[in-house]
Amino acid sequence: MKKTAHEIYDEAQKIWNPGRVEMFRSFGFEIAMGERQGSYFKDLDGHEYINMHSNGGVFNLGHRNSEIKDALIAGAELVDAGNHYFPSEFKNELNEKLLAVSPSNMRYVFTLNGGGEAIDAAVKFARKATGRQRLISLSCSFHGGSGISMQAGNPDLATYFNMTPDPKFYTHIEYNNLEQLEEILKKNDTAAVLIETIPATAGFPLPIENYHINVQKLAHQYGALYIADEVQTGLLRSGEMWCCCKYGATPDMIVTGKGLSGGYYPMSAIIMNEQAAGWMKEDGFAHTSSFNGTELGCIVSSKVMDILTRPETISNVAMLTDLFEKGLKQIQAKHQDFLVEVRQCGVIMGLKTAHPYGGQALMAALIKNGVWAVMANFDKSVLQFKPGLLMEKNTAEKVLAILDISLTQAAEMLQVPAN
Ligand SMILES: Cc1ncc(COP(=O)(O)O)c(C=O)c1O
Repeated sequence: MKKTAHEIYDEAQKIWNPGRVEMFRSFGFEIAMGERQGSYFKDLDGHEYINMHSNGGVFNLGHRNSEIKDALIAGAELVDAGNHYFPSEFKNELNEKLLAVSPSNMRYVFTLNGGGEAIDAAVKFARKATGRQRLISLSCSFHGGSGISMQAGNPDLATYFNMTPDPKFYTHIEYNNLEQLEEILKKNDTAAVLIETIPATAGFPLPIENYHINVQKLAHQYGALYIADEVQTGLLRSGEMWCCCKYGATPDMIVTGKGLSGGYYPMSAIIMNEQAAGWMKEDGFAHTSSFNGTELGCIVSSKVMDILTRPETISNVAMLTDLFEKGLKQIQAKHQDFLVEVRQCGVIMGLKTAHPYGGQALMAALIKNGVWAVMANFDKSVLQFKPGLLMEKNTAEKVLAILDISLTQAAEMLQVPAN
């Protein structure tokens, strides 16, 4: 007989992750995923949710996208993981597709399995290319839980695991602060400036004008490479394939992940220019991993790229951008004391509330009302709002109607004025 969510949570508390189970229970829910399709999923108790988090972009193309599923099944009939030693037509096909949608300075693609792992590798490549060690990154970013990526993100997380970044090699700066960036670059020892184009975990604060262009200029002026973390903002979410390019910048490396998986097969990639990829001409075996560029993964990601480059997908993103922009403006006017700022770039959205825990309260109200959205972990006053790129118009309208009600409920929960 099938287990209930409560039973699964009890077991998970014993053998999976006690802290996480307790946290979910303290929020008053026990969600374990059941049926899922497109923008919707159900929990095991039969409650239905519209997915407005998309796992940060893993479900950019919705749950169980049928084209991706078919590509995965057909691929599994033909190949397996393949051998990371050898070239392969499937790797070449995916790489060509990624290069075709990237700035013309990009020459090579290196595929891996997760965003953090790709950030680690990109920083290593920059260190090799420049012969320098220092990494400059944003203190408000999250780049993953692996070694370098964890140290590159908000340093508190690395410190928690007793791996506080060595200040000789890591400097964390404020977002949108170019003076601070130049101050550090003047040491002339920086290998790379790693910038999450719009920092997700900080609640998607928008960049000042020309921020990314100036990051690029300064990095190059002082001999450093510019790595754009596009794990959350890339793959058409901004309305263009890469959000940093929408802002006019041309990085030396673009890191992508999450949505490249199609929601099915863990894949990430570093798209890089000649300088960043220099090590591969010297020693092509210097960086390897057993599952780098798996053939089945490349088949899945190739299909993701086919869907993302279709005019229908691009116009759906434009439709959603417009619908949310107009809808959120109206909702904000109604709840102006509580919803103090709407941050939006394409379908990257952050809803800032007036209360330090307003994002958390809004998340709780939305979940009760059937919308799954998640607060920004580094700024709990903000709710992250990330629909799938293929979300239907009527589903998006439903989300806005539920948001309207949930804002009132969240403000009531916190005993603050809603409007
Ligand atoms: C901006 C950003 N970069 C990198 C990562 C790490 O990706 P992964 O969890 O696949 O290692 C994340 C994960 O949330 C992220 O949000």
